[in-house]
Amino acid sequence: MKHASVLAPSILAGNHANLASSAKTVEDLGLKWIHLDIMDGHFVPNLTFGPQTVAALRQGSSLFFDTHLMLDQPHRYIEAFAKAGSNLISIHIEPEYDHAATLARIRELGCQNGLVLNPGTPAEAIEPYLGFVDLVLVMTVQPGFGGQPFRRDMLPKIARIDCWRQERNLSFRLEVDGGIDLATGPECRAAGTDTFVAGTSFFGSADKAAVARTVAGW
Ligand code: DX5
Ligand code: ZN
Repeated sequence: MKHASVLAPSILAGNHANLASSAKTVEDLGLKWIHLDIMDGHFVPNLTFGPQTVAALRQGSSLFFDTHLMLDQPHRYIEAFAKAGSNLISIHIEPEYDHAATLARIRELGCQNGLVLNPGTPAEAIEPYLGFVDLVLVMTVQPGFGGQPFRRDMLPKIARIDCWRQERNLSFRLEVDGGIDLATGPECRAAGTDTFVAGTSFFGSADKAAVARTVAGW
């Protein structure tokens, strides 16, 4: 199954004194998704915001909240994010917790689930879970900060996961996050990506509609 391609601007590169205005910018362009980066200062060396902020954003937005949990203990927070209005909750494979149970619980809470892998993590680490996820997120930078250069060496990993998806007739989305712009978006698309996170390249551009069109390949 082929998914329509989606651009999810990352609010990490938006205005943190007025996140609602950044979400509105996305919605006014006719985009459907927004990417929310949640960082705990443990799994990644940075902090962002929590479920209370997500709930406040939900009040003024009908965007699809693609929620990327960069947390050491994500299973402790999924319920709070589901209640806050997240539509999709992605968890990393690297920390120690019950990944299968947490993925199942995200669905029970009425959300789509996603599994994320860092640049240093091989595709094989997530392979056993492919039948149980709505989205796989391949990090194309080490998570923690926006504005880092794209890791071109992630392209074979993306292609590998897309190949498994086709062979097994699975329908999860394949997302990339980090350093995605007018040049790297199309490279990821050619490798099988259908869902693109863009922070700096989107919020830093005067022609955001053009970024959306080119990155997602509409
Ligand atoms: C990085 C975050 C990304 C970040 C991407 O830890 O997961 O979502 O916002 O930012 P850019 O697009 O600037 O690389
Ligand atoms: Zn992210």
